[in-house]
Amino acid sequence: MKLADIEKVGVVGGGTMGFGIAINFALNGYPTVISDLSNEILQQSMKKLKSAMALFVEEDLITQKQADDTVSRITTTTDVAEVAANSDFITEAVVERLKDKQELFNKLDKLCPPHTIIVSNTSGLVLSDIGADVSRQDKIGLTHYFAPPHIVPGVEVAKGPHTSDETYNIIYDLMKKVKKVPIRVLKELPGYLLNRIQGAMSREANRLWAEGVATAEEIELGVKSTFGFRMPHEGPMGHYDLCGVWKWPADVRSPRRARPASEPLDEVTEKIRARMAEGKPWFVDPQQFDAAIEKRDREYIRRLKILYSSKEK
Ligand SMILES: NC(=O)c1ccc[n+]([C@@H]2O[C@H](COP(=O)([O-])OP(=O)(O)OC[C@H]3O[C@@H](n4cnc5c(N)ncnc54)[C@H](O)[C@@H]3O)[C@@H](O)[C@H]2O)c1
Repeated sequence: MKLADIEKVGVVGGGTMGFGIAINFALNGYPTVISDLSNEILQQSMKKLKSAMALFVEEDLITQKQADDTVSRITTTTDVAEVAANSDFITEAVVERLKDKQELFNKLDKLCPPHTIIVSNTSGLVLSDIGADVSRQDKIGLTHYFAPPHIVPGVEVAKGPHTSDETYNIIYDLMKKVKKVPIRVLKELPGYLLNRIQGAMSREANRLWAEGVATAEEIELGVKSTFGFRMPHEGPMGHYDLCGVWKWPADVRSPRRARPASEPLDEVTEKIRARMAEGKPWFVDPQQFDAAIEKRDREYIRRLKILYSSKEK
């Protein structure tokens, strides 16, 4: 099977995520069928979908013709067998309940032709549980979008324990073809990669709020105006490079430890320590450090003008 063999796609669950996932496929030329539990829900999905397209046109992201073509490529059904019969690639975006996802995967597995790839958009469950009983173990995978999925570019792409490389590469390439930014996740674990990073921040924010360190409003303002401001340019690894920590003396460079000094270091912490001890950046060429800083600052200044200065004028 090749990417070109995927001609039609299906999305099961037309809620907050499903309708936006369908937009990505349809906007990029794929006939797309959405299914949900009732026609009333599907009417709501189409309403949201059309509003999203109108906004894209209003904001000059696409033309009216592209919007009309996108909508015309989308059909809806309450019959999951219709999705199975009309899709080479199916994204499951139903309620985050293991039993429901397992039932759906099993049903699709029986109804779909052998070549069909089935992926889940679960936020926190793992594919080895969701797809435990399907026979096509090599043809299941995970695409984890971020809301709103028709706007946010990044999508995590992960394997189940038996997903074939062929399937994985098709999923990855398909995400590129529909102009998303696929992120390879190399191991299966609850929350996969990015929800774990995001979750770590949320847990700490909630804790600090509960401890009375700051109000919810100030936490929100603080995050958005500091490292949130920087984030479109640098993530945690890039930040390590650009803030110059790798140049610090070795004794102050080691990662801060969450555990008491008396506790032995675990294997993972040892690995991080060893990497930090190398005293080298992740991405930036040390010879080009000043140029990288100038590039960063130019981008920040441009964003500063958009986000802050223009509002005050
Ligand atoms: N909301 C987010 O920000 C977000 C982000 C990433 C991933 N996800 C994941 O995406 C999935 C869907 O989340 P959501 O926020 O769109 O939920 P939602 O409740 O908005 O939508 C789920 C839809 O699935 C339908 N549904 C339930 N069981 C079904 C079935 N058996 N067949 C067909 N349709 C069925 C429901 O009627 C509903 O319309 C979940 O697994 C969630 O964890 C959500």
